[in-house]
Amino acid sequence: MSKKNALTAKVVDTKRPTVVGADKHPGWHALRKVAARITTPLLPDDYLHLANPLWSARELRGRVVEVRRETEDSATLVIKPGWGFSFDYQPGQYIGIGLLVDGRWRWRSYSLTSSPAAPISGSGWGRARTVTITVKAMPEGFLSTHLVAGVEPGTIVRLAAPQGNFVLPDPAPQSILFLTAGSGITPVMSMLRTLARRNQIHDIAHLHSAPTESDVMFRAELAALAEDHPGYRLSVRQTRVEGRLDLSRLDWAVPDWCERQTWACGPEGLLNQAEKVWSSAGIGDRLHLERFAVSKAAPAGAGGTVTFVRSGKSVATDAATSLMDAGEGAGVQMPFGCRMGICQSCVVSLVEGHVRDLRTGSEHDPGTRIQTCVSAASGDCALDI
Ligand SMILES: Cc1cc2nc3c(=O)[nH]c(=O)nc-3n(C[C@H](O)[C@H](O)[C@H](O)COP(=O)(O)OP(=O)(O)OC[C@H]3O[C@@H](n4cnc5c(N)ncnc54)[C@H](O)[C@@H]3O)c2cc1C
Ligand code: FES
Repeated sequence: MSKKNALTAKVVDTKRPTVVGADKHPGWHALRKVAARITTPLLPDDYLHLANPLWSARELRGRVVEVRRETEDSATLVIKPGWGFSFDYQPGQYIGIGLLVDGRWRWRSYSLTSSPAAPISGSGWGRARTVTITVKAMPEGFLSTHLVAGVEPGTIVRLAAPQGNFVLPDPAPQSILFLTAGSGITPVMSMLRTLARRNQIHDIAHLHSAPTESDVMFRAELAALAEDHPGYRLSVRQTRVEGRLDLSRLDWAVPDWCERQTWACGPEGLLNQAEKVWSSAGIGDRLHLERFAVSKAAPAGAGGTVTFVRSGKSVATDAATSLMDAGEGAGVQMPFGCRMGICQSCVVSLVEGHVRDLRTGSEHDPGTRIQTCVSAASGDCALDI
């Protein structure tokens, strides 16, 4: 490397990371900049971490302050986010949560079940300094079982800022249908808590399915809500006894469903059926969907060695592992959002070789931009990251 290039590389290496929320806390950010000058050669992060593990200039962090059992296989985690987290999220949005397991940061997305803090005029956002997520332990699921049964209060987690388009407008529509099943109730719980707080429960029909009554998350709170608000009508279907909800018979359960704005979240089968029913009624624009999982049905390809060009790392991977997982496993900071093919936050350029879409099996050529969360190597390939 020439002397000039070496100098340039050094400048790039020591560039301070962008701080999430710096624009909202300019005073704090200025203080950090001063601290960065006086703490060189260590980054202020090193000192901040010693003072309080929740303080970081590089990343959002949170501390699990409570783990509360909801049902036999689900739990609510109360998390106190550290500096930089913005509490003005919208009900229905999700966060990324990263947990250090076996020396590796594992990331998943979880809908916020808490209600955003109420704005206090002139002083920014209120003092609700915690958020909650509610996790159902998936049989054979790696992180969810750990979050439900293995996380101790005090654990430090990494966080990705709230995002997502599955949100309620403010003010909310006069008549709403919530269609949920299993853990799909979580984003709707944030909506219900927010509507109750804003006094905007006018006419809500809520159809929820769970295997049995005791599997219904937030059961007592939902019952209390129905008791307190005549405009909220909850109908719980116990699928183990009554079978699954048949959306072609929706007229019977909610006669005016066509006139309502509908938010639906649950297993893929339910959401696929909802899409069909709403679009054949010509009202697809009144249906808002949130999917928790993407079906990766494509037949396996070849796998190969993936090179992450700008990070200078490479890793051998199989045909079923997403490029995002492969990169994170190799220590590359992969951009991400939903981790399931919806938000496009993970898109990078494919420099060389081919990759395969895990959902459809279609192959992408060099020069195209690909979603790393739903693509796998199809032979050796190189990514521009
Ligand atoms: C936007 C968004 C919001 C989410 N919100 C919540 C939430 O509030 N509460 C919650 O419990 N989960 C939520 N999830 C799902 C969550 O991110 C994880 O996918 C889930 O907890 C399983 O993770 P795991 O590590 O245990 O399973 P993994 O080890 O990743 O997967 C194990 C197996 O289960 C399958 N699988 C994974 N997730 C699902 C699923 N949801 N349905 C069916 N099969 C699945 C996988 O394909 C795999 O075969 C959300 C997902 C998204 C994208
Ligand atoms: S992370 Fe959302 S599309 Fe890949």
